[in-house]
Amino acid sequence: MRRLMINETIIFTLCIVIVVVIAPCTEAAGKGLGNGLNVGFYSRSCPNVEKIVADIVSEANRQDPKLPGALIRLFSHDCFVKGCDASILLEATRSKEPVEKKAQGNDFIRGFELIDEIKARLEQECPQTVSCADILAFAAREAVFLAGLPRHKVPAGRRDSRTSRASDVGLPAPTTPFNDIIDFFTRKGITLDELVVLSGAHSIGVAHCSFFDYRLYNFNTSQPQDPALNSTYASDLSTKCPKQNTLPADEAKKTAVDFDPTTPLVLDNNFYVNLLQGKTLLQSDQIMVSDPRTSALVKTLASDSDAWSRRFAKAMIKMGRTNVLTRDEGEIRKNCRTFN
Ligand code: HEM
Ligand SMILES: *[C@@H]1O[C@H](CO)[C@@H](O)[C@H](O)[C@H]1NC(C)=O
Ligand SMILES: *[C@@H]1O[C@H](CO)[C@@H](O)[C@H](O)[C@H]1NC(C)=O
Repeated sequence: MRRLMINETIIFTLCIVIVVVIAPCTEAAGKGLGNGLNVGFYSRSCPNVEKIVADIVSEANRQDPKLPGALIRLFSHDCFVKGCDASILLEATRSKEPVEKKAQGNDFIRGFELIDEIKARLEQECPQTVSCADILAFAAREAVFLAGLPRHKVPAGRRDSRTSRASDVGLPAPTTPFNDIIDFFTRKGITLDELVVLSGAHSIGVAHCSFFDYRLYNFNTSQPQDPALNSTYASDLSTKCPKQNTLPADEAKKTAVDFDPTTPLVLDNNFYVNLLQGKTLLQSDQIMVSDPRTSALVKTLASDSDAWSRRFAKAMIKMGRTNVLTRDEGEIRKNCRTFN
């Protein structure tokens, strides 16, 4: 009887050791959590990398004030398809399948030339050292900074994938049912609260009329206009995005509207203030006001800009850890558009 107790005690102790010590070690080794990334990863191998990225992005921003939105979207679409592995940059792969950037979910995605420019400069400075996946993360951080938020620290050490498939791009669309959107992000390790916080990125940048003009003219069989839209705002939108049949179709597709009508270049919590007033382009954002799982957080973030900006930086860092490749996985591309 006593022996049995001792054995149980030993087994219990062993279990504690396994749970407390060994499990986190194996988790850290697992790529899913992205714990293999470190701030200052290039401090010996390419000490100027973050300064070089900052200089090139800020110079480009002078010519193109809308660049920050494009870079943040580019990074998020890299991370949310498989993981932050620069697969969105590839033009072709060995399998010859259509690549991610050609998929519908990546319509209007841009920023590729800037990433090329950064990569070319870094190949001179420290050849075959900095991954394209880390360049995307550093560039997105500079975008956040240029749009008015503090410069957050970016853990690095990501490696580049050798594959990219359009058929892997299952990104949610503005019309995707909210439960499916939530499922998508949960599978990526992003919580519902983090999704609400990250969606504040829609306080800069643009959306093309084709993503939301149905809310103005063709909402559903009983209501031509989405009643959640602020009517003053809706009539303003209607002038920017006239009914398809009043414009040539390709013209209507090309027109882009600022997400935030008041501070379109500033990354701020105004997004949530606008949401509460029905001034939103995307139905997938508007739903966060009325859904009981998110409405309280939307109100909190609308009234507390510091809380939002702190949580946004944290969520960006977390997003950047999504399914990364590290150590000997993948490769360091020489050219971000092609595998080595
Ligand atoms: C349910 C989730 C989401 C949906 C359905 C969605 C959808 C969209 C759509 C349709 C556009 C317009 C693209 C265009 O017309 O050029 C857009 C733009 C943008 N999205 Fe999202 N998005 C989502 C989540 C996110 C998240 C989590 C982030 C970032 C952290 C983000 C960042 C951006 C940015 C910065 C832009 C502006 C791009 C530009 O100005 O070029 N989005 N999004
Ligand atoms: C149309 O949309 C409104 C507002 O979202 C909703 O209340 C109504 O049930 C919808 N009607 C149909 C026929 O789907
Ligand atoms: C609609 O927008 C106007 C003008 O910005 C604002 O004063 C009003 O409060 C908004 N309506 C609602 C229902 O939030």
